[in-house]
Amino acid sequence: MRRAYSLICDLVSRIVRFEGRKFLALKPGLQEDILRPEGGPEPALYIHIPFCRRLCPYCSFNRYPFEEERTRRYFRQLRRELDLYLERGFTFRSFYFGGGTPTVLMDELVAFLEYLHSRLPVEEISLETNPRDVTPETVRTLKGLGVRRLSMGVQSFDDGMLKAMGRLSHTGQEAIQKINLAQGQFETFNIDLLYNFPTQTLELFRRDIEMVKELGIDQVTFYPLMPAPKKRHAMERRFSKIDTHRERRFYDLILQEIYQDGYRPSTVWCFSRGDRMIDEYIIDYQDYIALGSGSVGLYRGLFYANHFDLDNYGQKVQSGQLPIAMSRVLPRRDLLRYHLLTQLFGMELKEESHRRRFGRTPDEDLGLELSALRLIGAVERTPGGYRVTERGMYVVSGMMREFFTALNRLREYCMVGGI
Ligand SMILES: C[S@@+](CC[C@H](N)C(=O)[O-])C[C@H]1O[C@@H](n2cnc3c(N)ncnc32)[C@H](O)[C@@H]1O
Ligand code: SF4
Repeated sequence: MRRAYSLICDLVSRIVRFEGRKFLALKPGLQEDILRPEGGPEPALYIHIPFCRRLCPYCSFNRYPFEEERTRRYFRQLRRELDLYLERGFTFRSFYFGGGTPTVLMDELVAFLEYLHSRLPVEEISLETNPRDVTPETVRTLKGLGVRRLSMGVQSFDDGMLKAMGRLSHTGQEAIQKINLAQGQFETFNIDLLYNFPTQTLELFRRDIEMVKELGIDQVTFYPLMPAPKKRHAMERRFSKIDTHRERRFYDLILQEIYQDGYRPSTVWCFSRGDRMIDEYIIDYQDYIALGSGSVGLYRGLFYANHFDLDNYGQKVQSGQLPIAMSRVLPRRDLLRYHLLTQLFGMELKEESHRRRFGRTPDEDLGLELSALRLIGAVERTPGGYRVTERGMYVVSGMMREFFTALNRLREYCMVGGI
């Protein structure tokens, strides 16, 4: 039974891997300039800050070593890029700062947040940070500027694991101190933990989960390790094969441990106590505009990636053009499947929101996919649509892992190619 389930998970992952690569086969430039507000729901705004004081070897995001001058220049360019969207008539209320490390240069971040408040009706801000940057002063400042959700990368509380990961920005004890500083100060305080790292044992991971419960953290997001191909090879040369079959045991442990203490899934990777904000704007917002180097956006079916290379990014923005490196107008079928994936990732496919967006019911649009997922027990029918079952959570986790792995492949291609 367990083996059959593993085979099903493998098969579903393979399908998503194949579909993910197709989905992400972007062409150079802006394929069709439909980046103009159309009067529907406002898109979210994702803002990428690609600098870190230390670069972690496993990380697949677009990031560069912090240098003060180029970071200041970047924040100026970011403001210019925002203006380009505002000049097109866009307005935004929801903002998601990711990285890299958005808090790497606080005075610039503060100025940027003030700029947002001066130009836009800011309602929600979610922001990522690193333990090193969390101080009583940053917490006060960010709260004062309307940050409602703060998310801090911890990865593990175990110093041996942190060292093996090459995560040199903090120790386990320092992470706990920073958690104590930030917890209770925001509407939602989240930490990220990594699992299925080659040298990680289930026992070490269990201790990480226990620490989350002991500290009473509002929210925790568990990331399965998803390195881009070159990083994967480097890690496998140093340690051992990154085995996605092992991943399932870690995931089972999450479900076994986290439910006991009142945490409930906000997504298949993110568990919260009470109602909390999540950083998965891809679930809450059908459209999101991407700002900054190496960010990706989706608007009216146009999927696009900004320049990853800082010079290319800067030159485009300075010359008054959107810094879009590549894009693709998604066919309806791809958009439907993407929507299915992101909604299942958020645990629920709501008939009403599907109908509002696509004009038909999920069964009319995705009958085959939903029947197959029902058949393997991954989703069940509810009065309002479909819900992911506990058994299906790992299936969906594997689907998302494959999609992000494909995205990380694209990121690496752009970074290595200086795009
Ligand atoms: C941009 S980082 C978080 C903020 C901050 N830079 C930090 O690391 O503390 C977002 C999260 O992505 C996750 N992440 C990064 N690279 C990953 C990879 N290759 N596989 C899985 N998760 C990854 C980490 O858990 C990290 O905390
Ligand atoms: S995990 Fe965070 S701190 Fe480490 S390199 Fe990636 S973005 Fe930077």
